[in-house]
Amino acid sequence: MTTFGYEQSLGYDRRATRLLTGLYRRIATDIDARTTDSATVVDLGTGPGKLLSHLAARRPDLHLHGIDLSPHMIEIARRTLAEHTVELTVADVGDLPHPDASIDLAVSSVSMHEWPDLPTAVTELRRVLRPGGTAGIYDFRFARTREIRRALGAVFGSVDTETVRLPWHPVAVITCYRVTA
Ligand SMILES: C[S@@+](CC[C@H](N)C(=O)[O-])C[C@H]1O[C@@H](n2cnc3c(N)ncnc32)[C@H](O)[C@@H]1O
Repeated sequence: MTTFGYEQSLGYDRRATRLLTGLYRRIATDIDARTTDSATVVDLGTGPGKLLSHLAARRPDLHLHGIDLSPHMIEIARRTLAEHTVELTVADVGDLPHPDASIDLAVSSVSMHEWPDLPTAVTELRRVLRPGGTAGIYDFRFARTREIRRALGAVFGSVDTETVRLPWHPVAVITCYRVTA
């Protein structure tokens, strides 16, 4: 499987800052509203760690983790998050480094459409969530939509979906899939 190389990761970091800051703010606001004090949150496919940096600034009480398949993305995320306490790990969503039932909230932003084996990844997601824990998966509205919904539904039963509108974007391009363990 190919992963983001170093130059590609740097390029993505620059583009994400320019194009996706509104999305990161929106997701950080959602997570703020959905987590109790000191909750444990993991960002799956964190890339350069932009979402986590918004979250860490907004909610310094949270225990934050980020995983990504690309060691280059994790290297950049370490720099992005140098001033915050965040556990960053190179890992595949199909084999998460977290113990069973250890996560209160899992999030993912524009990453799930890249995951090669959705059923395995969703089974891992279910394993690491505490009973009652939730996941919010934000991804492009037209990318593998049915496949994502089917994989989440097969493991979690019900899947709530919401079309996410971002300020200044004329067209809504993001769907949030929300599930509860
Ligand atoms: C388009 S980037 C999104 C990064 C970040 N979430 C954001 O919103 O800026 C997709 C990320 O998912 C990661 N990724 C893709 N497949 C993965 C997998 N199987 N396990 C972990 N991370 C994966 C990629 O390495 C990449 O960093």
